[in-house]
Amino acid sequence: MLRSIDVNGVRYRVADEGVGPAILFVHGFPLDHTMWSAQIVKFSRTHRVIAPDLRGFGGTDGSLYSVSMEQFSDDLADLLTALQVDRPVTFCGLSMGGYIGWQFAFRHADWLGRLILCDTRAAADSPEAAANRLKMADIVIKEGPEPVAWAMMPKLFAASTSERQPEIIEQVRHVVLATAPTAIAAAHRGMAVRRDMVSELPKIAVPTLIVVGEKDAISPPAEMKAIADAIPGAAFALIPDAGHMAPMENPIAVNAAIREFLTEN
Ligand code: MLT
Repeated sequence: MLRSIDVNGVRYRVADEGVGPAILFVHGFPLDHTMWSAQIVKFSRTHRVIAPDLRGFGGTDGSLYSVSMEQFSDDLADLLTALQVDRPVTFCGLSMGGYIGWQFAFRHADWLGRLILCDTRAAADSPEAAANRLKMADIVIKEGPEPVAWAMMPKLFAASTSERQPEIIEQVRHVVLATAPTAIAAAHRGMAVRRDMVSELPKIAVPTLIVVGEKDAISPPAEMKAIADAIPGAAFALIPDAGHMAPMENPIAVNAAIREFLTEN
């Protein structure tokens, strides 16, 4: 069921499907909850699946000038409360959803039962990458989402996805081009100043799964393996035939990895 709910003056669009222990799916940038369609179908058979559009994205309003990863994580805790979700939840985030996941893990530990990080990074931006984001934020406000689509789309997918599943690329392009420029700019500004979490990884005390597409050009497998090695007891799943958007590109392998992790932890 796609719901609309007001939380702290923000009207959220959120997929809320199934009954059972809760899994919160948090999308990447600049996307919306539809990137998790295959996971929503699969896991709503056994779990309560909550997949919101983050502040400003998709069908959710409430853009700010800049949105920190901390703010997004606080938004999610308030949304879970408003939806009367039972604790603890499994948090599953991709890329920017993972940046938010680190903050959620430390700021809202009382909500967290397990952590799944897909195709994300723990390191902060380099000064050059941060400066680029600020420049891109200004460009998007003036020109709309096209420049972001041009910059990002080629990096998101494995070559095999372009060849065999071009419809997925079109679906993502459509979402990016429909995203509010204010949301893109605000998230870019927030990601540019996000905290470096590498030194915090050994403190994560919940069962954790790290998932990465073997052809991920944005958060490469070696970097994600280092994240898994730094988190006590973390599991690691390398997904074949997938790049940065592994849950969309190879949902069968990603869902199997998540299912195994949920069963064993
Ligand atoms: C994402 O997929 O969320 C982005 O690649 C995050 C980023 O721009 O660092």
